[in-house]
Amino acid sequence: MKKLIAPSLLAADFANLQRDSEMLNNSEADWFHIDIMDGVFVPNISFGMPVLKAISEHAKKPLDVHLMIVDPDRYIDTFAELNAAILTVHYEACSHLHRSLQKIKSCGMKAGLALNPHTPVHLLEDIIQDIDLVCLMSVNPGFGGQSFIENTYAKVKAIKQLIIDKGATTLIEIDGGVTDQNAKALTEAGADVLVAGSFVFKSDNPTETIARLKAI
Ligand code: DX5
Ligand code: ZN
Repeated sequence: MKKLIAPSLLAADFANLQRDSEMLNNSEADWFHIDIMDGVFVPNISFGMPVLKAISEHAKKPLDVHLMIVDPDRYIDTFAELNAAILTVHYEACSHLHRSLQKIKSCGMKAGLALNPHTPVHLLEDIIQDIDLVCLMSVNPGFGGQSFIENTYAKVKAIKQLIIDKGATTLIEIDGGVTDQNAKALTEAGADVLVAGSFVFKSDNPTETIARLKAI
């Protein structure tokens, strides 16, 4: 499978979300990556449902919604109503992960699971078959523009092996500090989806930057 590129709107110009959404529609981006932060699970607040609704009205590609919030079960129905195609919750925020993943799927979405940099991938050995997408955080979640954590390569290889061993079909997504400097090595290690915020939106020509990432 050709790798997918999911630009993160966290780095977009919030005063021009329609413009930036249309740029993504007309680019080689595969998904819109949407970061929802609650100021509790992570030390930052991004945006919530009204902003997601506004983006959703312009987006013509699947919405990949990454919840950095405590107790995400409270809002699974709401994100389904807001057209999320993939809903990702954090391992560290779910006491009853199996139930949360089943609820996401029963609402018609793909179920994603994100792991913080310190969370080992072997913890997923009894749940990997229930996960459509595993999101490896390659920075500590909460902010865009941070440096990529090099240990991520080892985690990609380990989770790829687990997916193969268990006969799962889970996609591997990398989130944080992705640039043209690490995209190739990540893909070679087994990544299927690359999230990129600052590298895309802070570049001179985001459309070209997306095309460049896609071609790597
Ligand atoms: C971080 C978010 C990321 C962020 C990535 O908590 O989950 O999606 O937007 O931004 P960059 O690509 O700038 O590291
Ligand atoms: Zn994210």
